Amino acid sequence: MSLLEDLLITLLFGTQASFTHPGVLIPTVESTSDIELKNVVKQTQRSRDARETLGFSQKVWRSMTETLRAGNDELQGNKHHLLPKVWDLAILARNLLAAKEKAQNLAASEGFEAEIRRLLTICVEKTSKPVPPNLEKAAHEKELQMKGGYKKVLITSLQFLNNLMTQNETRKLHLWLHLFGTPSSVTNASPATHTQNGSGAGSSGKNKGKNKSKTQSGARGAANNNGSHENGFAGTAIGTGVAPHSETAQKCNSLSAGFNAKYYKPGFLTDVPRLLQPDEIEPLLMILQSGVVAFDGTDEAMQAVRCKLMLAQGYGRSLLRETLVFLGAWEVDEEDFCYRVLAQVVEAILINGLIPYAYECFRDEKDVVTPAQSSLLKLLVTVYRPQPALPTPTQGEWVQNNASLGPLQYLPSLRGVIKQPYEYDDPPVIEASIPTFFVNVFRKQVLGPVLAVIRLQGAIRRGEEPKDRFELSLWDLDRIYEGVYQFMELFILFSEDDDAKRVLHANNDALVCDFVKLLGELDRNIPRYVASKDKPALAEVSREKEEKSTEAVEGNSTTYREVQRSAVDSKFMVERPFDIDDNAHDGDNDLDYDDLDDDLDDQRDLVDPDEFTWPNVKRFLVILISSLAWNNKNVQDLVRKNGGVEVVLNQCKIDDDNPYIREHAILCIRSLLQGNPANQKIVEELNARETVPSEVLDKHGYEPYIDDKGRVKLKRTGSK
Ligand SMILES: *[C@@H]1O[C@H](CO)[C@@H](O)[C@H](O)[C@H]1NC(C)=O
Ligand SMILES: *[C@@H]1O[C@H](CO)[C@@H](O)[C@H](O)[C@H]1NC(C)=O
Ligand SMILES: *[C@@H]1O[C@H](CO)[C@@H](O)[C@H](O)[C@H]1NC(C)=O
Ligand SMILES: *[C@@H]1O[C@H](CO)[C@@H](O)[C@H](O)[C@H]1NC(C)=O
Ligand SMILES: *[C@@H]1O[C@H](CO)[C@@H](O)[C@H](O)[C@H]1NC(C)=O
Ligand SMILES: *[C@@H]1O[C@H](CO)[C@@H](O)[C@H](O)[C@H]1NC(C)=O
Repeated sequence: MSLLEDLLITLLFGTQASFTHPGVLIPTVESTSDIELKNVVKQTQRSRDARETLGFSQKVWRSMTETLRAGNDELQGNKHHLLPKVWDLAILARNLLAAKEKAQNLAASEGFEAEIRRLLTICVEKTSKPVPPNLEKAAHEKELQMKGGYKKVLITSLQFLNNLMTQNETRKLHLWLHLFGTPSSVTNASPATHTQNGSGAGSSGKNKGKNKSKTQSGARGAANNNGSHENGFAGTAIGTGVAPHSETAQKCNSLSAGFNAKYYKPGFLTDVPRLLQPDEIEPLLMILQSGVVAFDGTDEAMQAVRCKLMLAQGYGRSLLRETLVFLGAWEVDEEDFCYRVLAQVVEAILINGLIPYAYECFRDEKDVVTPAQSSLLKLLVTVYRPQPALPTPTQGEWVQNNASLGPLQYLPSLRGVIKQPYEYDDPPVIEASIPTFFVNVFRKQVLGPVLAVIRLQGAIRRGEEPKDRFELSLWDLDRIYEGVYQFMELFILFSEDDDAKRVLHANNDALVCDFVKLLGELDRNIPRYVASKDKPALAEVSREKEEKSTEAVEGNSTTYREVQRSAVDSKFMVERPFDIDDNAHDGDNDLDYDDLDDDLDDQRDLVDPDEFTWPNVKRFLVILISSLAWNNKNVQDLVRKNGGVEVVLNQCKIDDDNPYIREHAILCIRSLLQGNPANQKIVEELNARETVPSEVLDKHGYEPYIDDKGRVKLKRTGSK
């Protein structure tokens, strides 16, 4: 036995004694031994030798397990003051796992892993318990501090789990069963494989030669069967894809043998996203990532199985839903690690053919589009857009963070890699089933309620209905708006892809008629907004903006965006579609568009929900109509027959809720008129009565074209 090993075991003995027999140690001895333990923890942080010496010692793990068990018992008895000691144990264990396989195996076989799961359950419980009201200040502080302590331990424990299962298929699967419950049969738990064409090919050949026997398949039944009420496979949209006797199913069965059912409590992490902040949730996301994302060095078939398992189990869907809501509530930046990792998870869901299923799972009667659905749509757009390439994370790396805690974690990919310059990966092919599904959802579930809200807003504005008929709060509206916004972004993405665009044209272009109808209702019922000319100095605006965003983050834990702020603070790239004639004479466009982004931080005091203006939606609709009418006589005619030409012409005005809508509308009109005499006639007739922007009529000044990204653009054909 090495000296270090001896020392640690002695120290652990002391710690355990202070748990089981409080007061048995003289305080000075106890604090000396605490300091010594911290020193050992520090050594494992810095020194690989120390990690291996301790991590490969069965005695050490056994002693740590006993100590943690005693600690957990005390914490369950609300001996909160012992928490720091328990935390040291968790940090120590997490660090030791960086010594890899042997340490991982000992941590599992000696039962430390099970105690960590128990600890996690305790932490979740303590952290989520509401602070009692009416506490006096000091007691209140203390309570918060205590919860903060449990939260830190929770995060370290998640890091431990992530490190524990790294690169070990068996343990990943075991963790999955712990997280999401054991389905009645893992064989059934291999749902439909509707793989993206092309991707995933070749993976099936990968596992050849691993001929596992099926004899152990019953072993998992040892676990509490309470998860089986979620026997979610039968009759769900998932269906069954992997043949029960297939290699994957067999493998899955054999891997799930030896499942440690101690402290089996599926769903124990479901509440975690609610308790954490963006920089705290990373380890949880990394667990999901390393369980389902098929990167090099993983067994793709097993990653797929876990992806399906997660969605098939109620606990899995709940955790995913909470994570998606988390993302939306915190408005996590797209460059952020959390966002990128979740996008990978969504891509895995997509590749496994489960996006429609997931979307349906997150449905909720009280929402037109739930926050989780909105986040899913947003991530889907990210997945389909060309993304900065991730390095091929063959082995991943153990990374030591230099923060005081210094989590030593295995990072399967992309941490620290998100940097310029970007290379681009090919995004997955958009299979027709995805746009087909979302077009249907939009038309059947979203459009109707949204039209109803907009019509009511108009009726109230015109005094036809009393103001109190409007029952939605700003929160309700924000959720609906977020959903509509994401659908628009998704459809614009589809409109830029030849095959997906064909789907948008399906059903006799019914979707186009819906777009025209929605645009018409917005035009009739929602007033345009023109920012006042006396804007505050830029510096002031941006300062305000900053203050607002910190408020949003530091405020209440579920901070949904402030509607009116989000309204103009568009994340959508505001792109001016063409250079407008500098001498345009309608006097409307002397607003400096370059400042739009900064200036738009709203000066309005819109407090009443019924005055909500649906920013950007009109602009999106105009862009979509342009694209769908391009070179398509049928759509051009449909738009005319639905009164769309007039409505689009009406958008040739400045509206600061819809940046550049004037230009987009001009573009759209050109797209509608091209090669369509009937449409041209309408515009000419209109021109007799009111001014139509010169760019529309000047047939020689501009001409529309479609750029290499599939977007309709207008270009100058030469000097007038
Ligand atoms: C993976 O985990 C299993 C089960 O805990 C264990 O038996 C096996 O040895 C581990 N594999 C490696 C390579 O450590
Ligand atoms: C899949 O790809 C192959 C060739 O790469 C093609 O022949 C086949 O039609 C594709 N299947 C689907 C469903 O797109
Ligand atoms: C696979 O297992 C079966 C029986 O379990 C056995 O008959 C067969 O020979 C094995 N194949 C290989 C390649 O080991
Ligand atoms: C299953 O779980 C529920 C709630 O968690 C509990 O009430 C019930 O007793 C459990 N049943 C079994 C068989 O463990
Ligand atoms: C450690 O963190 C500090 C501040 O967070 C940073 O300045 C320093 O470069 C970091 N050191 C290493 C080695 O990463
Ligand atoms: C958080 O919510 C409570 C009530 O739910 C409220 O009193 C408090 O002002 C809110 N804090 C912030 C920063 O919004």
